[in-house]
Amino acid sequence: MNEPVHTFRLATPDDAEALLKIYEPYIATTVTNETQVPALGEFRQRIVERDGAYPYIVCEEDGRPVGYAYGSRLFSRAAYAWSAELSVYFSTDHRGRGLGRAIYGKLFDLLALQGVRTVVGKVVCPNEKSDHLHEKMGFELVGTLRAASWKLGVWHDVHLWEKHIGDVEAEPAPLLRLSEVDSEKVCAILEA
Ligand SMILES: CC(C)(COP(=O)(O)OP(=O)(O)OC[C@H]1O[C@@H](n2cnc3c(N)ncnc32)[C@H](O)[C@@H]1OP(=O)(O)O)[C@@H](O)C(=O)NCCC(=O)NCCS
Repeated sequence: MNEPVHTFRLATPDDAEALLKIYEPYIATTVTNETQVPALGEFRQRIVERDGAYPYIVCEEDGRPVGYAYGSRLFSRAAYAWSAELSVYFSTDHRGRGLGRAIYGKLFDLLALQGVRTVVGKVVCPNEKSDHLHEKMGFELVGTLRAASWKLGVWHDVHLWEKHIGDVEAEPAPLLRLSEVDSEKVCAILEA
């Protein structure tokens, strides 16, 4: 049998149904702090809100979505513009194949082109896979929020992982929307 082919592209709102199917099984776990499955329209809106602003990447296996990752603004106040929060989900049977590393690498490269300097991952404990992904991708564990979430009858700590993807000594240029970045560079990163 041929090896599966994995490709990466930007999401469109029409991906909402397939991506929600990937996300849904995690709602019943502590991987996400969301407790109700979002309605399809709400999930679609989350893609629309990032469209053109921040990268929302879909990973496909032989043309079928098997995972996704996106960046969001970390905090809303103006001076936080250069810090982004990351989210990443693969279908339960597509974990542990190096795809998390691959999609995160592309996310960093796209966010760096926009001018983002710092990326942050929030990991609800325990989540060994996600802690390992962040550690292997060069993040530093900069803190733990103690008992920050209550889910499935237990309090959970939340690990805060941080990585600088740009020069944090120099003055930043205004942050670009993803749509303002050279589209050839965006394609080159997604197709690399
Ligand atoms: C977390 C997640 C995105 C990681 O992606 P992945 O494709 O499974 O991870 P990768 O296969 O790229 O592995 C990343 C690294 O962590 C290591 N790793 C993964 N799970 C591990 C484990 N349980 N123990 C030790 N190392 C582990 C891998 O060996 C790899 O390191 P390497 O490249 O040096 O071998 C994926 O598992 C997932 O979707 N999980 C469910 C959703 C989730 O937890 N999202 C994050 C919320 S914060």
